Amino acid sequence: MILLAFETSCDETSVAVIRHGEVVANVVSSQVRLHADYGGVVPELAAREHLRHLPQLARLVLREARVEPRELEAVAATRGPGLPNALMVGLKAAQGLAFALERPCLCVHHHEAHLYSPWVAGPPLRAAFDALEPHLALIVSGGHTMLVAVHGLGRHEVIGSTLDDAAGECFDKTAKLLGLPYPGGPVIDRLAAEGNPRSHQFPRPLLGGHEPEDFSFSGLKTAVRYELRDHPQAVENLATVKDLCASIQAAIVEVLVTKTLRAARRRGLRVITASGGVSCNRALRRELAEGCRNHGLALRLAPPELCTDNAAMVGLLAEALANAGQLGGEADADIRPNWPLAEKNTPGAAR
Ligand code: KG4
Ligand code: ZN
Repeated sequence: MILLAFETSCDETSVAVIRHGEVVANVVSSQVRLHADYGGVVPELAAREHLRHLPQLARLVLREARVEPRELEAVAATRGPGLPNALMVGLKAAQGLAFALERPCLCVHHHEAHLYSPWVAGPPLRAAFDALEPHLALIVSGGHTMLVAVHGLGRHEVIGSTLDDAAGECFDKTAKLLGLPYPGGPVIDRLAAEGNPRSHQFPRPLLGGHEPEDFSFSGLKTAVRYELRDHPQAVENLATVKDLCASIQAAIVEVLVTKTLRAARRRGLRVITASGGVSCNRALRRELAEGCRNHGLALRLAPPELCTDNAAMVGLLAEALANAGQLGGEADADIRPNWPLAEKNTPGAAR
């Protein structure tokens, strides 16, 4: 199948062309610099930027892929979750194009696209869903932290999620407290490399052996706030900021890695995956690799270019689900800004 895919759920405008399980072209236009001035994503601005860039990005990828619009066999878009107006731009553009071309419009769940992105290999980037084995997936994005037991394509069950702040949110909010620019994750990643992760002991929430498989990161954020209230001069000293970054990152990574490995072992799952923006984090990738090695588990990480939001993962999943008869065209589907992944749970997938 040849399809055009749109991703506009947050602050990246992305369009991709997929042909028979392969990414032929994928462009991502990030709005990060625009939102950085406001210290976070401004929803109205995000939607306007998507509107401004989507048509030219679509023309660009089609030209790059040497595909004419009439050759497209389907159009895919993210339906949710995400920012309402931002989602609306991508979904309605996809539906309009699908209507004009008399092709199906395939609607994808944003987290389901992240969930399967570790099963894409390259270059060139290709879906490797045939190789998919039962596994325990960690999805760590800006707004969500989830553990998902996966037994096959489209067969999964959410077994843990965040009770308050997500891991990405914790990176972004603590970076803001430290006076660092948005998005904080990549900045903390960079500064932490030169800091001492043992300089500050921040809490490791819900880490006890009998704790549920959910996450909670708001206490860690509060601990950083108290630390800076008691030592306001800390943000003036680059060496101290690096130590704080390293200690914050160490706390987040330890919680993510320990809980992921434990959940996999409890369910007898021998493969672990990680995806979503925070899975770019170098310490997380390193610690997951070491933990898996120590416990004899296999690890698959999403390719770095597919960790953050992109249309390639949306298109690849849309095509695979459509081919498997699990997804059909939904001409009039509306956006689902709060669509929980758990709504798509397949009973028994966690066993
Ligand atoms: O998946 P994503 O691109 O967007 C959402 O769907 O939310 O994730 C964005 C999140 C942001 O919170 C950003 O700070 C975080 O991913 N992030 C990182 C790194 N790169 C991006 N966090 C830690 N270390 C990184 N290297
Ligand atoms: Zn995302």
